[in-house]
Amino acid sequence: MPGDKPMRLALFASGRGSNAMAIISAVRSGKLKNIVPVVVVCDKEKAPVIGKARDAGIPCELFLPKTFDSKEAYERAILVHLRDFDVHGIALAGYMRLVGPVLVDAYPDRIVNIHPSLLPAFPGLHAQKQALDYGVRVTGVTVHFVDLLMDHGPIILQRAVSVLPEDTEETLGSRLLSVEHEAYIEALEVLSMGRLRIYGRRVLWT
Ligand code: GRF
Repeated sequence: MPGDKPMRLALFASGRGSNAMAIISAVRSGKLKNIVPVVVVCDKEKAPVIGKARDAGIPCELFLPKTFDSKEAYERAILVHLRDFDVHGIALAGYMRLVGPVLVDAYPDRIVNIHPSLLPAFPGLHAQKQALDYGVRVTGVTVHFVDLLMDHGPIILQRAVSVLPEDTEETLGSRLLSVEHEAYIEALEVLSMGRLRIYGRRVLWT
């Protein structure tokens, strides 16, 4: 993805949508310059992100997996919409679903995800609780490219967050979330400028 033209970005979300909204706000405030958020894709009927995106004036398209015969059909329908919006890249922002081959092949090295742990520690659901239960003193956030495995692709950026003795899932989660918002914006800036090169599992910033 060359850095000369703004990257037309789709945001995929399933719930609250704070990461999606942080990205949209960063674009609006001029902090994130080379990105145009063009559409939000949501897979949950009652997700708060739907109203938030629409309030922000970004179209939000709802795709319910259960209304399709297969995951392939579901992703093909999404792909048609992404092409209508001339989408160049996808940021998963609390999208609670594995991305399949239809989308991964259509957007090679142009799908990214954020996860609230220092991967490969604590992939999957409830990463904050996993970190607390394990007793780690440091956890964090990871922005990574998306492949077909869960929370697995090459790592773009990580930020550490200390776990405090008095932390609960909520307090740790909320400190992680603020760091997520900053980290995602930084990673998207570099991605959209065409500054990332992937060598195997390693991502070099140029
Ligand atoms: C975030 O913690 C994100 O890292 C994880 O799911 C959560 C989504 O939060 N993948 P939000 O919907 O962006 O507020």
